[in-house]
Amino acid sequence: MKERTSLFGLIGHPVSKSLSPRIHNAAFKELGINAVYIAFDVPEEGLTDVVKGFRYICRGFNVTIPHKPSIIPLLDEVDPVASKIGAVNTVKVEGGKLIGTNTDWSAFKLLLEPHLSEFENALILGAGGAAKACIYALYELGFKKITVLNRTLKRAEELKEELERKLSGVEIAVRPLKADYVSNPEVFVNATPMGMYGDPSFLKSVIDKVRRSIVVDMAYSLNGTFLDKVKPGIAYISGIDILVEQAAQAFEFWTGLKAPRDVMRRAVRHEG
Ligand SMILES: NC(=O)c1ccc[n+]([C@@H]2O[C@H](COP(=O)([O-])OP(=O)(O)OC[C@H]3O[C@@H](n4cnc5c(N)ncnc54)[C@H](OP(=O)(O)O)[C@@H]3O)[C@@H](O)[C@H]2O)c1
Repeated sequence: MKERTSLFGLIGHPVSKSLSPRIHNAAFKELGINAVYIAFDVPEEGLTDVVKGFRYICRGFNVTIPHKPSIIPLLDEVDPVASKIGAVNTVKVEGGKLIGTNTDWSAFKLLLEPHLSEFENALILGAGGAAKACIYALYELGFKKITVLNRTLKRAEELKEELERKLSGVEIAVRPLKADYVSNPEVFVNATPMGMYGDPSFLKSVIDKVRRSIVVDMAYSLNGTFLDKVKPGIAYISGIDILVEQAAQAFEFWTGLKAPRDVMRRAVRHEG
C-alpha cells in the first residue's frame, strides 16, 4: 500500500495571496517527504471547528491574520514565548496534542542579530501581532528602550501596558504615526502593511530619517514593497527574508529536519 501523504497547512483569512504553500511544498519535494501543504481560508467563526478537525488529519499548520491570538485557547500547549507575545504562528500535532509556538520573533531575532552593535534604541511602526513579536526579539537581544508609532494610539497604549508588565525592565514609548518622531534609531521596523500597496507617503517621509538605522520591513510582496525598492538604512532586511526564515523554523519544528532554506527562498519566486 502506498504511504499516506501527510497534511500540513495554513489557516487565515484571507489566504489567497499566501506564499507559504509554495515555500513548504518545495521543501517537502527537496527532502523527498510525502507531504502536502495547503492554505485554508477560515473565517473567525470557523476557527474552532477547523482546529478540532486538524487534530485528527493534520501534522502541523501555520496560523496567520486574524487567528494568531485567538487560536491560543484552542491549543493543548503553547510555548512560554508565544504566550508572552500573545500570538501563535505555528502548531505541531503530536500524539494527538496541539502544540503552539511562534517563529516570527525568532526569525526576526536571527536575521537582525548579526547587524547589531549598540543595542540602544529601536523604533517600530505598528502595534499588532508582528510588532509584539519584534518587541519580544528586541527584548531578548537586550534592548531596553523601544518606541512604538501607531495609527491607533489606544492600541499602542494597550501593547505598552501588556508588554511592560510581561517583559521586565523594558520601557516602551508610544506615539502617533508621525514622521517627526523618527530620528535615526539603531533599529527601524515597519510592522504594518504600509508599502505593500496603496500610498507609501509616510514611509517616503521617513527614508532620510533612517539612513543610519538597520531597517527591517515585515511587510512583503512579490512585486517588492516600497522599502524593498529603496533599501534604506545601513543594512536592510526584507519581509521576504523574514517570511522564509519563519517558514524554515516552522518546518524544522514539524519535521525535526534541517530546512532547505535556499530552496525555500527560490520557491518564493517560482510557483510549483
Ligand atoms: N514577513 C513575515 O514573515 C511577516 C510575519 C508577520 C507579519 N508580517 C506582516 O506584518 C504586517 C503586520 O502584521 P500583524 O500580524 O501585526 O497585523 P495586525 O495584528 O493586524 O496589525 C496591523 C498593524 O498595522 C497597522 N496598519 C494597518 N494598516 C495600516 C495603514 N494603512 N497605515 C498605517 N498603519 C496600518 C495597524 O494599525 P492600527 O492599530 O491603527 O489598525 C496595526 O498596528 C502585515 O503586513 C503582515 O503581513 C510579516
